[in-house]
Amino acid sequence: MNIILIGFMGSGKSAVGHELAQELGLHYVDTDEIIAKTEKMSINDIFSQKGEAHFRYLETEVVKTLQDYENFVIATGGGMVLRPENVKMLKEIGPLVLLWAEPEVIFNRIKHEEHRPLLRVADPLAEIKVILGRRVQIYREAADHVVDTSKLSVKEVVHQVIEHVEKNNHE
Ligand code: S3P
Repeated sequence: MNIILIGFMGSGKSAVGHELAQELGLHYVDTDEIIAKTEKMSINDIFSQKGEAHFRYLETEVVKTLQDYENFVIATGGGMVLRPENVKMLKEIGPLVLLWAEPEVIFNRIKHEEHRPLLRVADPLAEIKVILGRRVQIYREAADHVVDTSKLSVKEVVHQVIEHVEKNNHE
């Protein structure tokens, strides 16, 4: 069994993913970490030196390699589901759980962080609203299940995901 976490930056994919993996005895992997490791470059450097389009290409290449993963919680970069081909391949290996959060919540979670190239702008909250607005439909259509994390602790989100997975008995 695999569980794939999708959603915007700061929606809690990494914090929830680590804890979820621990609770279920699964491995944890993050597609951004795979990319940074194989390219030997930070995500910021890939964006600034090679451009976003190249980063999106690398994301699709990573998804192809995930096809033989078994027993993983897979946290994906916030733009992973923008390409329908990525969504299609991800759905073959497990359910896609969308971690949702309101823009203000996302802003509060990420405001002291530096590693997200798309949010290194003068007014990150406005940028979050713009990008999220553009993506909301795509996230929701890709998702097999949605958890609104805005008012929940990491533990509560983890338990909601587990409840959903057990109910649907995803193998
Ligand atoms: C991106 C999200 C980031 C990372 C890259 C682009 C996006 O991942 O893949 O900066 O387009 O939303 P996180 O969601 O893990 O921050």
